[in-house]
Amino acid sequence: MEGLPGGKGLNIAHEAVDRHADGPLRDHVALRWLGSEGATRDFTYGELKGQSNRFANVLRGLGIGKGDTVSVLADRIPELYIAALGTLKNTSVFCPLFSAFGPEPIYQRLSKGDAKVLVTSQRRYSQKVSHLMDTLPKLQHVLLVDAEDHLGKGLLSLPRLLAESSEVFSIPPTDPEDSAFLHFTSGTTGMPKGAIHVHNAVLTHYVTGKYVMDFHPGDIFWCTADPGWITGTSYGIVAPLLHGITNIIDEADFDAMRWCHILESEKVSIWYTAPTAIRRFMRLSLEPSRHYDLRHLRVIHSVGEPLNPEAVVWGQKAMGLPIHDNWWQTETGGIMIANFPAMEIRPGSMGRPIPGVEAAIVRRIDKDTVEVIEEPEIQGDLALRPGWPSMFRGYLHDEERYRKCFVGGWYLTGDLAKRDADGYFWFVGRADDIIKTSGHMVGPFEVESTLMEHPAVAEAGVIGKPDPLIGEIVKAFVALKPGINPSEELRLELIGFARKKLGSAVAPKEIDFQPNLPKNKAGKIMRRLLKARELGLPEGDLSTLENN
Ligand code: PRX
Repeated sequence: MEGLPGGKGLNIAHEAVDRHADGPLRDHVALRWLGSEGATRDFTYGELKGQSNRFANVLRGLGIGKGDTVSVLADRIPELYIAALGTLKNTSVFCPLFSAFGPEPIYQRLSKGDAKVLVTSQRRYSQKVSHLMDTLPKLQHVLLVDAEDHLGKGLLSLPRLLAESSEVFSIPPTDPEDSAFLHFTSGTTGMPKGAIHVHNAVLTHYVTGKYVMDFHPGDIFWCTADPGWITGTSYGIVAPLLHGITNIIDEADFDAMRWCHILESEKVSIWYTAPTAIRRFMRLSLEPSRHYDLRHLRVIHSVGEPLNPEAVVWGQKAMGLPIHDNWWQTETGGIMIANFPAMEIRPGSMGRPIPGVEAAIVRRIDKDTVEVIEEPEIQGDLALRPGWPSMFRGYLHDEERYRKCFVGGWYLTGDLAKRDADGYFWFVGRADDIIKTSGHMVGPFEVESTLMEHPAVAEAGVIGKPDPLIGEIVKAFVALKPGINPSEELRLELIGFARKKLGSAVAPKEIDFQPNLPKNKAGKIMRRLLKARELGLPEGDLSTLENN
């Protein structure tokens, strides 16, 4: 890494693209895009520089500047990557929206994120956004990736704007502490929180790319995560480009055969994927290494949910390589704990903290104090010592929620874990009600609020129900308004209602009716109890239960 020329600071896009484009890697493939219909497009570092410069000039021409939020709602298409890098060059803030979100999660994030620009397609705009425009006064420009011409005021053709813009752009001075990314993540009690990341995060991306991912010149890397989530930006865009290697992007959704084919034909050497995908392979009893030529594959990594020990063993047998689990979260901006390629893997463990990161298991004493648990094998809260470069710098407009994450000099991750005598960390579960479904975070409150909007619903409580394939499924319990009777028809209507508003990534897959939901004395629905009852587990301390 070198910093901006002339000592003008540190900009992620300069480190990831321009530095290589202006050097010996100019003609090396930076991005190889595989379209779902079979097309392939390569972008060299030189081309990526030109394209992202054009996008930065588009923003500048529209009067979008430093700190302004640029949101993207798109499939994994080249424009998404160009927009991300161009936004960083313009010192604006890139905010991705997962393409399977429905209008409600999109509205929450555009509105709370103060989005000024949205990059999307005509279909997504008309299905999910156009009816919200009146309630989004800050959103000034919608850039349509598939419109040949401008469609009206604020509804512009991105291809036309790009074609009319210069390929030359000089990155303005960028302070390492300037905001770069805004990633929304779910809370347990409120609406989503926008975690702010700064350009300095690039140091963590670089170091973890080198020591955890094991990037070397000539590597071909494939991160299967969608850039709607942070793994897909930190490791699906930034980290591989920083190292000047080739980054594979597959537009299509999961398909086991297609994925095996990509690993083989693209000669992928480092693969970063997720437990849900690995379990899908396992369920199909596929042994890819027997049927595909995977000799180029050197390391496999996994993240996002617990990786069962059997999956690590399966990797060795079916892929010819073990699977290296690592741990981090939206707030940490990059990998914090990992089974490094250079160390012994402990199947079922997340690994050990990366150099420079101090992790501990702590116990809460009171609201301002925690105590570090020194003895191994004791369960407690997983905590990190603040100060690593990619640490989030705040939740946008949520100072209070940000402050609450730090107690007694530690950042509390919200995860429960154990540490063994050799310093390996073992995931136990979440300390709160957040749901992980197919590796994606879902906040129960967001789902409950949407269900409550249905005229038949009096109360809703939402939990994650364990599922052997996708980790957890979103399950809702609903109490109906007086005089309304439960029926199969109403259940399906509610599922459809939630799906239309929230999208398939967030909506409940199961809904059960109950006459009343258990509440504590403050009137709060006790999700913990709903979950215990659903799973037939002990109900625990019921002293706070209403009407007890
Ligand atoms: O609960 C942990 C789980 O995913 C959470 C972070 O999710 P998100 O903010 O969406 O970040 C995605 C980037 C990884 C964590 O608090 N998690 C993440 N990695 C693991 C994990 N749970 C178990 N094992 C892991 N390796």
